[in-house]
Amino acid sequence: MKQLPDGIRHLPGYFDVAEQQALVDEIRAVVSAAPLYTPTMPRTGKEMSVRMTNCGALGWVTDKERGYRYQPTHPVTGAAWPAIPDRLLALWQAVANCPQPPQACLVNFYDAAAKMGLHQDRDEEEFSAPVVSVSLGDACLFRVGGTKRNMPTTSFRLESGDVVVLGGEGRLAFHGVDRIYAGTSALLKNGGRINLTLRRVTKAVAGC
Ligand code: SIN
Ligand code: FE2
Repeated sequence: MKQLPDGIRHLPGYFDVAEQQALVDEIRAVVSAAPLYTPTMPRTGKEMSVRMTNCGALGWVTDKERGYRYQPTHPVTGAAWPAIPDRLLALWQAVANCPQPPQACLVNFYDAAAKMGLHQDRDEEEFSAPVVSVSLGDACLFRVGGTKRNMPTTSFRLESGDVVVLGGEGRLAFHGVDRIYAGTSALLKNGGRINLTLRRVTKAVAGC
């Protein structure tokens, strides 16, 4: 396995197929309460290729007018986000090394053509907690680098059931998704990839 930057952990096959299927069912329930929508970039209003929704007390959203932010309600329906499934709370307890539970779970859906440019997750107030990410469905090519955009990057494949933890020195590492490998998983009946990212958003009194 490749050497990853400090603070980046890749846990291949963390969830077995039965657990992946159960997670997909749980995320389907989330999506029926909080439908996927197409986010737009701050200022330009350019549409992202990934569709998004959230579960948890807070959800990450973006649009032309108000940019990147967290809010307690769905930007289209105005409803509170559904709860984070227990299976994901248990994952956080097991790998995050942070006693405070996650406040936000961003649900990203990638079709075969979707990708995500290199970025940092830095809209949170709390960087002592990691970002914990789960991949379901088609594999992707994931890229991760350092804390500055011009630092060298390395890329590797994420398969269905894999978990990635961006913590410690890696919490603010640049990362992105270069491409989806369509047809590499039968988990989602219409194909595509789901990525779930668990985060703390506000400062915890005791930190993590
Ligand atoms: C993200 O950075 O929000 C998504 C990463 C991924 O899809 O693996
Ligand atoms: Fe990210």
